[in-house]
Amino acid sequence: MKIAFANATLPKSGVIVVFATEGGKLTAPAAIVDKASKGQLTRAVKAANFEGKRDQIMDVIACGTYDRILVVGLGKADSITAHETEMLGGAIAGSLQSAKVTIAAIAVASHKTLSEAETASLLASGASLRVYSFDQYKSKKPEKAKPLDSIAIHSASAEKAEAEFAPLSAIREGNHFARNLVNEPANILYPVEFANRAKQLAKAGVKIEILTPAQMKKLGMGALLGVAQGSPFEARLVVMRWDGGKKGQQPIAFIGKGVTFDTGGVSIKPAGGMEDMKGDMGGAACVTGLMLALAKRKAKANVIGAIGLVENAIDGNAQRPGDVVKSMSGQTIAVLNTDAEGRLVLADVLWYIQDKFKPKFMINLATLTGAILVALGKEHAGLFSNNDELAKRISDAGYATGEKVWRMPLTPAYDKMIDSDIADMKNIGGRFAGSITAAQFLQRFVNKVPWAHLDVAGTAMDAEKSAINQSWGSGWGVRLLNKLVADHYEK
Ligand code: BES
Ligand code: ZN
Ligand code: ZN
Repeated sequence: MKIAFANATLPKSGVIVVFATEGGKLTAPAAIVDKASKGQLTRAVKAANFEGKRDQIMDVIACGTYDRILVVGLGKADSITAHETEMLGGAIAGSLQSAKVTIAAIAVASHKTLSEAETASLLASGASLRVYSFDQYKSKKPEKAKPLDSIAIHSASAEKAEAEFAPLSAIREGNHFARNLVNEPANILYPVEFANRAKQLAKAGVKIEILTPAQMKKLGMGALLGVAQGSPFEARLVVMRWDGGKKGQQPIAFIGKGVTFDTGGVSIKPAGGMEDMKGDMGGAACVTGLMLALAKRKAKANVIGAIGLVENAIDGNAQRPGDVVKSMSGQTIAVLNTDAEGRLVLADVLWYIQDKFKPKFMINLATLTGAILVALGKEHAGLFSNNDELAKRISDAGYATGEKVWRMPLTPAYDKMIDSDIADMKNIGGRFAGSITAAQFLQRFVNKVPWAHLDVAGTAMDAEKSAINQSWGSGWGVRLLNKLVADHYEK
């Protein structure tokens, strides 16, 4: 979709989007459109008893000289937040798409909380997040132009709006990059192919290093490699670096679970719904999308993104329940369930990153447990952390972006549940508190570095549809973590 930021002079025909506040009161630009339509817009708003509540959208067809006027409710405009404005942009784009509109203008109104430039850029951002589609495997392409081919956003400060949109456009790009990765089927996106896609970030100035199984073996990554050993696809560990901060400044690190398909291994998963396990790399997708977003907007921070890429498959060489593996940290693990594989992958990546880069903090994202869906549904991702300040910052960034997290406990009593008789630990903790024991497992590999784990099993894939996301793979976390970096780590 093309987005243009235009001056306040509104078009006199075509499709136009205007705003009304609570009570159906037309904003100033809407009043201009009303005048051009010789009062027909006011009449339509009254006749429809349009109340102007937030997210209410009224579609007026053939009104005055216009083909279509979309009247969008702002509710109490003076309390609208940045995120709510973005969601409005998404809802507008959705309405225009359903109406098969290809070109539209939006008449931005000014109000107290956000400047016109901010409003214009946020509406553009929401609309651009919304109009994502993943259709490269459809062999029949639509003949006509796609709905919503271009929008022009009219405001009193077009240049400023355009400038404010630049970083939002970078974030959108990162989010869509992540969505694409999650949506790809596992026969296309296996570890080496994922690593190849990550290489594309070099164009944006990200440095990429890729470790092969031989290199990982040398480093002693027996936990990660044990998961990969039942698959014909070789594992990869990708380390991405964006050095936008001061030279020598301690980096921050993001780490992702990248299981390109999770059959469960010998502890095989039931057939029903197993296809969803192509999305078991949602954490790695988010980290990759985040690195792209940070690089594209030239974030002033030194950032590491590391992703452990494996397929958890089954063949004669697959690891068995009961196998004992040795992780890079030296700790041994009894693999009682081969389906609890994400923690095995992350154990070695977390250890490697803290050991090699001594980061200020590590945040890992993983579609780690089905149990987090039982606990929190799809509304919040699970947050586990050994650091209150970091946890609070993540939580705040979550509410500000609508990518919400809810903190869960970590305590010695839960930690004890993964002690093993024959090894240093086992990879499952029993029937209860499954998400917590998984997090306790990870914590044994962070070596006291400030750390947070986001269990995104309920949010990265098959997520709730929203005004700004209609895709199966949501790209969840890119916007949240970008905000975390922007708010606290670019000084
Ligand atoms: N990838 C799954 C978790 C998952 C489940 C992600 C549903 C997305 C949706 C993970 O590897 C897994 O299989 N976890 C097991 C752990 C159990 C064996 C302790 C689970 O959640 O059942
Ligand atoms: Zn699994
Ligand atoms: Zn998994």
